[in-house]
Amino acid sequence: MYPVWQLPVIGSALVIAFIASFHILPSHLATSAFWFNVYVENKAYKQNRPELLEFIKKYVLTILIFSFVFGSLSGVGIWYSITVSNPKGISALIHNYVWGWATEWVFFVIEIVAIYVYYYTFDKVDKKTHLTIGLIYAIGSWISMIIITGIIAFMLSPGKWLKTGGFFDGFFNPTYVPQLLMRTSFMFAVAALYAIVVAATLKNKEVKSFIIRRASLWGIAGTVSGSLFFIWYYKALPKAAEEVSEMTALIPKILPHVVIGSLIVLMVWFVFTLIKPHGARLVPGILAILILLTGIFSAESMRERIRKPYVIDQYMYSNQIISNDMIPKQVRSNLSDIDTQGILRYSYFVPAGLQVITDKNMQQAGQVIAEIECSACHTLQSNGWLRPLPDMVKKAGLSNVDDAEALIGFLNSFPFMPPFAGTDMEKKALAVYLVSLYK
Ligand code: HEC
Repeated sequence: MYPVWQLPVIGSALVIAFIASFHILPSHLATSAFWFNVYVENKAYKQNRPELLEFIKKYVLTILIFSFVFGSLSGVGIWYSITVSNPKGISALIHNYVWGWATEWVFFVIEIVAIYVYYYTFDKVDKKTHLTIGLIYAIGSWISMIIITGIIAFMLSPGKWLKTGGFFDGFFNPTYVPQLLMRTSFMFAVAALYAIVVAATLKNKEVKSFIIRRASLWGIAGTVSGSLFFIWYYKALPKAAEEVSEMTALIPKILPHVVIGSLIVLMVWFVFTLIKPHGARLVPGILAILILLTGIFSAESMRERIRKPYVIDQYMYSNQIISNDMIPKQVRSNLSDIDTQGILRYSYFVPAGLQVITDKNMQQAGQVIAEIECSACHTLQSNGWLRPLPDMVKKAGLSNVDDAEALIGFLNSFPFMPPFAGTDMEKKALAVYLVSLYK
């Protein structure tokens, strides 16, 4: 049914959410850890404390395994999952930002080469050269963040791009700077969390407490400044999104609580390890990372909800229908074509028998329409994880076709749902299908 990938029960959107939220841990470790490494290595040489290098070697190995194995797997996983679940969204991004990604990948390659060279040249090159290699990694990986953040923030707030279609107009969009600063801050908290876990396994007590104390300070600074930039980021959201964000129905209260709660737990952990570095153990250290992951997942869910009904704000809906004309790119909204031709004819792989609606295939055609227009945000099965459509139908009390048809007619007045696109006959078919879910 290209371009629709309907994953039963879980829902395609949640697959992306799981992979992408996890990816934040290895990717932000990859961009932050070497700043801490270079800092410690510099201290080791300046104060003539070669024992500190014991930590660095262990830490680099952790980064290599965690960031470069799990980070690469989940990074490629994001590409696979977004490509199958929203091919038109990804096509829009590639058409606009292919050179952005190409540039990012150049820095990514620098990063990969630098970490291997760094790891294998301990004691083999002079100190200054080794530090320089570490610095090349640190700067290269941060530049990759500078680039990718532009593309990610673009989807949430395309800004002037909507009028001009310009690469940099979309790149330097209203949420770009606060988001970059927020990620840059939090990445130091991620580096600190891992450094504490690695240092907890060290035997040399003096090295252990030195590293853990410094890491705790980095962690506190990163968490505090990251939280401040988070507030700025939230305030910079486009106005329409802000209105939506106020809809309590859309953002379950638990999400902001989990985000704030996880930040508080992190702060308590960092303050504890600062005061009692020898109390830091492996298991609570790993738990702190998992708590951060829960906070990340909740913050990402909030962002996803705020972006609704769009996948690229004011340009493309989550169900891959282009909402607005984009004159500079010679792209037109799909809405009027779909309204005249019908969504069943307009979509590529609808079985021939379903392109024309009859009394007999009405409900089945309605289901295909729901798969195309609704499944990006609703699983169709009642045991689904993502706003199951049968539950929604029940909640809205759609026990007869007239009510269902009226609700579909009103879809464009729900700020978080795309308008219904299609013919009157298709609207009726969808209504028949929705009512069949009412139990
Ligand atoms: C961009 C995402 C998105 C798409 C696409 C979408 N919805 Fe929704 N829908 C939502 C959200 C978010 C809610 C609110 C969920 C809640 O109340 O928990 C919702 C709620 C509903 C409700 C309950 C409304 C009420 O009165 O409470 C119904 C019925 C519904 N959707 C039907 C549909 C149908 C039919 C389609 C396809 C034509 C569709 N939705 C497409 C996001 C979407």
